[in-house]
Amino acid sequence: MNYLITGGAGFIGSTLVNRLAGDLNNQIWIVDDLSMGNLDNIVDMDKRNVQFIETSVTDQTVMAKLLSENQFDYIFHLAAVASVADSVARPVETHEVNFESVLQLLEFCRKHQSGLKRLVFASSAAVYGDEPTLPKQEESVIRPLTPYAVDKFAAERYVLNHYSLYNVPTSAVRFFNVYGPNQNPNSPYSGVLSILTDRFQKMLDQQESQFTVFGDGEQTRDFIFVEDVVDALLLVAGSADSLGNVYNVGTGEATSLNTVIDLYGKIIGSEVPVVYQAGREGDIPHSYADNRRLVELGFAPKYTVASGIRTYLDSVLKK
Ligand SMILES: NC(=O)c1ccc[n+]([C@@H]2O[C@H](COP(=O)([O-])OP(=O)(O)OC[C@H]3O[C@@H](n4cnc5c(N)ncnc54)[C@H](O)[C@@H]3O)[C@@H](O)[C@H]2O)c1
Repeated sequence: MNYLITGGAGFIGSTLVNRLAGDLNNQIWIVDDLSMGNLDNIVDMDKRNVQFIETSVTDQTVMAKLLSENQFDYIFHLAAVASVADSVARPVETHEVNFESVLQLLEFCRKHQSGLKRLVFASSAAVYGDEPTLPKQEESVIRPLTPYAVDKFAAERYVLNHYSLYNVPTSAVRFFNVYGPNQNPNSPYSGVLSILTDRFQKMLDQQESQFTVFGDGEQTRDFIFVEDVVDALLLVAGSADSLGNVYNVGTGEATSLNTVIDLYGKIIGSEVPVVYQAGREGDIPHSYADNRRLVELGFAPKYTVASGIRTYLDSVLKK
């Protein structure tokens, strides 16, 4: 099988690449500009079935050549400026990556990828915004509040409409809070668990370290381990029923930040100092997925928050 994985050097993309590259029958093309990703995330980069193209998905010349000269079975479009804060600071630039590149990719598929089995687009639970109904269902009211969320929702609709209008085989997934190895902690808006892990690592390395909680820590999220997310991506890509559909990718469980901090303390056996500050404007108090649509496809998360965090910490702290 031929796979194109944009954003394949990033957190979720590299985990997907590493899973697929284990089978030497798979040929994998990665497109990533390394703005956030890192080639070290890819185990055995020299494997003969992995090809890396360092470019932006906004480079239409390179993308047109890639998609007109190769036939892909599966495309996972994960490249994005994944920072909501960055999208607020630079709405025009991030729109090019988070929206325009998706539309262009769909058009290249329409023209050149007649044998494509599925394009899966990575959308986000951010599309639901602060609409308070819980759990979030795929048909819940959406209220995208930031350029990031607007672009994700618009791109998602184009992705699904390219199936209904032009028969390009597509699906979309809305990730909730994904965590696990290879998540880059180097932004105050990175995934909260990657930041917490980083603070514990610093503490264990005898460096000064503290973790800042915005609000009282009772805000809840649906934390899903990255290997479960890869399972979900492959399930959606391989299912006939998912054609033209969108799926929440979450565990269906809500966990508070304070609970997560306690879990870290118990697993590691020591505490990192926690500082509580005023909540950030726009932060959503609670979010978790109704994942029944995905479960109906056959999804069963293998990790609880406790076992996922334990696996994450085992892999990070032994490095
Ligand atoms: N991690 C989460 O909890 C989460 C939640 C919801 C949605 N998502 C979405 O999932 C996808 C993957 O997210 P992630 O957490 O792995 O983030 P990430 O930042 O680790 O991965 C994104 C990758 O895309 C690359 N990239 C960024 N701009 C690019 C460009 N112009 N051209 C080529 N490559 C580019 C980055 O270098 C990076 O490797 C993104 O689309 C993100 O919006 C993630």
